[in-house]
Amino acid sequence: MSTKPKFSHVVFQTAQGEAMRNWYSTVLDGHVVFSDEVLSFVTYDEEHHRIALIHPPMEMDRKTETTAAAHHTAYTFANIDDLIARYELLRDQDILPEVCICHGITTSIYYKDPDGNFVELQIDTFENPDDATAYMEGPYYEEDSVGPAFDPEELIEKRREGMTEQQLGDRETWRNSGLGNPLEVLMGPR
Ligand SMILES: [Fe+2]
Repeated sequence: MSTKPKFSHVVFQTAQGEAMRNWYSTVLDGHVVFSDEVLSFVTYDEEHHRIALIHPPMEMDRKTETTAAAHHTAYTFANIDDLIARYELLRDQDILPEVCICHGITTSIYYKDPDGNFVELQIDTFENPDDATAYMEGPYYEEDSVGPAFDPEELIEKRREGMTEQQLGDRETWRNSGLGNPLEVLMGPR
């Protein structure tokens, strides 16, 4: 049997070191562990660095919507109320999501960092990963592998009215949200 490494960090090459450092520290409620002219390390948990930035003082090309590159990083909260709390904290600092999607396996809020990389804040719908896998193998994913968009303020309202985390994570709850195809936000209009 082979040993399994654990995922440790992600590194972005950026021409906006300060803006990116501040944004990731705010969104992930983290802090800068190290920073010099070339490198910055940010963490928010037990790892010594989770997000690193390489920002040598030089011109760089910006990623476009059609650049084949890493699309997003994702961070999982313990429950819907923690996810809502982070959304509200960021909203009140004018950091607003690009799109929110009820994937079925996760309830996800997508932001764009200052460079245009997406960041997904999410909760798992299923406690057991095997149940999430079974869901992906079922009819919902066969019909639509993305899921419907939802309005985060509506989600908060429904939560206040007593909807459970499971109901809020059910695609049926958002089937008629009328918010269009979320993939157009994630990938740009085709
Ligand atoms: Fe994701």
